[in-house]
Amino acid sequence: MTQDIKKIGVLTSGGDCSGLNTAIRAVTFSALTKGWEVYGIHNATDGLFVRPMWYQKLTMADFEFPYATLGGTMLGTNNSGNPHVLTREDGSVEELTDDELVQRFTDGVHELGLSALVVIGGDGSMAIVSKYCKAAGISMIGIPKTIDNDAPGTDTAIGFATAREVVMDALDKLDTTATSHHRVMIAEVMGRSAGHLALQSAIAGFADVALIPEIEYTYEGIVERLKQSFAAGRKHALMVIAEGIKNPEGKHAFSVNGRTFGGVSSYFAERLGQDGFNVRANVLGHIQRAGTPIAEDRLLASQFAVRAIELLDKGQNNRVVIHKDGRVQDEDLDYILKLANTPVDPNSDLVNTARSLGIYVGEK
Ligand code: F6P
Repeated sequence: MTQDIKKIGVLTSGGDCSGLNTAIRAVTFSALTKGWEVYGIHNATDGLFVRPMWYQKLTMADFEFPYATLGGTMLGTNNSGNPHVLTREDGSVEELTDDELVQRFTDGVHELGLSALVVIGGDGSMAIVSKYCKAAGISMIGIPKTIDNDAPGTDTAIGFATAREVVMDALDKLDTTATSHHRVMIAEVMGRSAGHLALQSAIAGFADVALIPEIEYTYEGIVERLKQSFAAGRKHALMVIAEGIKNPEGKHAFSVNGRTFGGVSSYFAERLGQDGFNVRANVLGHIQRAGTPIAEDRLLASQFAVRAIELLDKGQNNRVVIHKDGRVQDEDLDYILKLANTPVDPNSDLVNTARSLGIYVGEK
């Protein structure tokens, strides 16, 4: 069954990453090919909540400027997790109740004449927006993105491949100073409670140590590994630490709402320094979410977007596109939202690969 779609909206929600603009471009181009109009909603759902609304009609001309090759999102985003507090362009703040948000969203999509919304975001964003779409009686298709690579139900998501490339490149750079100065260089890597980014970039970047939240480690294990390395004549080392690990005393350096972490690398720089190593800590931070999307992310974003438009064209609603078993598929959104985020499997091939290469990834 096809549905009579004339206008759709597209928005990005949650933390930005590389590949979002590629996805916006691909949604736009494939919808225009079907003769539909496309409205880019600004700053996640905020664009539909404020009055006057924040949006732009998207055309191919909008991509004359090389947005699609840039990181970030040309539509803006929001990852506050609290849609109730809106900051207007003049800086004033407006607080809306649940009912008011639903009403504004419904009025907004009807005013624009949208019959569907493509939401490029994480599972948290999709859960929130799907409630509004259901209430407004419009279709929704989700496209997953996250550099953490832990989105439920999909093997990968937009942004991860580029972030991994950025970390690998940083490790290659840190390695030169590590070699010149006979140092232990630590790279603290994003990922929240998941260690995919840290583990995969550690293998690709030839690290000696990779600490991830999913596997327990000991401080002694790290020291032993570093000493072995130095004893074998390698006078420098690279350590990759996922931001979400706790220090050996069971503490996060800082944590916001138990979800956003940072600073744990300082603990190791200080303690390993006291134990005689020449150490520097580097928090890679938000550069991991930036940069030109690599081909892998451009392909994934393009395939996801095309699938999303095909689904809408076939009259499908409340679906999320996923990448499973090497190909693009789709699944019921409510089913996906019931699944847990995907951690690193401590018994996976990748963990085994790391161990077999002599990388200390924690205790077995
Ligand atoms: O979820 C993506 C992510 O980049 C995490 O890896 C990181 O912990 C968090 O977002 C940072 O969020 P913020 O941009 O709000 O500091």
